Amino acid sequence: MDRLTLQSPAKLNLVLDVLGKRPDGFHELRTVFERISLADTITLTRNKSDKISIRCAHPHVPLSSKNLVFKAAALLRQDFSISEGLDINIIKNIPVAAGLAGGSSNAAAVLSGLNRLWQLGLGTQELAGYASRIGSDVTFFLYDTSYALGTGRGELIRQLDIKTKLWHLLVTPRVKMYTADVFTRLKLNLTNKKDNVNILLPFLRKGDLVRLAGSLSNDLEPAILSLRPDFVYLKRKLLDAGAAGVCFSGSGPSIFALAESQKHALSLRAKFDRRYTQAFVVSTL
Ligand code: C5P
Repeated sequence: MDRLTLQSPAKLNLVLDVLGKRPDGFHELRTVFERISLADTITLTRNKSDKISIRCAHPHVPLSSKNLVFKAAALLRQDFSISEGLDINIIKNIPVAAGLAGGSSNAAAVLSGLNRLWQLGLGTQELAGYASRIGSDVTFFLYDTSYALGTGRGELIRQLDIKTKLWHLLVTPRVKMYTADVFTRLKLNLTNKKDNVNILLPFLRKGDLVRLAGSLSNDLEPAILSLRPDFVYLKRKLLDAGAAGVCFSGSGPSIFALAESQKHALSLRAKFDRRYTQAFVVSTL
């Protein structure tokens, strides 16, 4: 096998609780990840050179060693003394630096793909070890699960056996927001901290959309809004348009609405001006 094509989906965070700052500078999180239908396509092709090269037509995707896919391939190539080269082609549909973990998902796809292409024989736990060295959100994408609980930096994954299929309108302003900048702005208020994960999970399990809508939450929201106070209008606009619940994903700026159906999500999309935002109708994958 010389070539492999993989789908690389995005995620949303239905809850993102920040529990505190850790001695290593990262934040301790408790989050519910949802895998969604918006996806990039990654093609891995073996070659006879001794280089890893990246191709992507999207102007904001780095083609250098800064790209997480490069880090993923370089780690495996070095550890397994692989001498051949690799072309990584990315068709980018997931907005970049948008709270959707597109780059992390691409890296996970490369780890899983190279495990097959180079016949490395790694199990999920071993791949997870590589994933956590690349980024906090990479590990989630190694698991074939619609929902998972993330703890630690977000890299400790427990799969959740939940069958509910959700529909969303996902709105991404045409600006990039860097995770580190958002965490820097965070003012931790740890008194009376609610366990938002365990409040949400029974409603998600039952598919109780009304209560689910009321229990979406993201502790990074004040930090996101301190960088871009104008984004509060997106939240208001979605709620005024009839969205049941609205929440930022990850470190933003993507914001998603919980819709009652695909039709409802499509009707919400019609209200957004594509000059300033990208708007996607997505479902649980
Ligand atoms: O792990 P990742 O590369 O995605 O993290 C990017 C940045 O986001 C980190 O350098 C850190 O500043 C911040 N971060 C954090 N706590 C986390 C995850 C990320 O403070 N759990």
